[in-house]
Amino acid sequence: PPEQTLALIKPDTVEEHKDEILKAIQDAGFSILHMMAVCLSQADIEKLYRKLQDKPFFNQLVDFMCSGPCMALILSKFRAVHEWRAMMGPTDPCQARETAAESLRVHFGKDILHNAVHGSSSSERANEEIHLVFGDVCREENQASL
Ligand code: CMP
Repeated sequence: PPEQTLALIKPDTVEEHKDEILKAIQDAGFSILHMMAVCLSQADIEKLYRKLQDKPFFNQLVDFMCSGPCMALILSKFRAVHEWRAMMGPTDPCQARETAAESLRVHFGKDILHNAVHGSSSSERANEEIHLVFGDVCREENQASL
């Protein structure tokens, strides 16, 4: 059965490159179940990245992710978590240059912090992250259809 994952196009990349990235996602055979531009709140970003809260770059990461709107997508495909992470490439775009030359982070990332895109690390995390980012929207849609 198809799996779902959360993809984010990060604030520094969204404006200039979102169309190219959306095309690449579709060409790779993902279905886009939901898509929205969203300014994530500081609280949501702290939850999204709570496992990194002890890292020295945590505050920088939160500031960066709050600096403008992200494009958030729910992607569906067989093995979507793995497939989307493979398409993104390694966290550090510089490292990705050697190991994943065709990856999105090589094309669009600037450095290890400003690395263009995010993807959930497991199916369980994907469910949590989708709920965190889209939960309110889905609730609003359900309300509207009542
Ligand atoms: P992402 O896949 O969204 O998951 C965690 C994010 O933390 C990562 O992409 C980077 O944006 C950021 N990150 C990870 N490691 C570092 C680091 N060493 N320095 C700065 N930012 C980092």
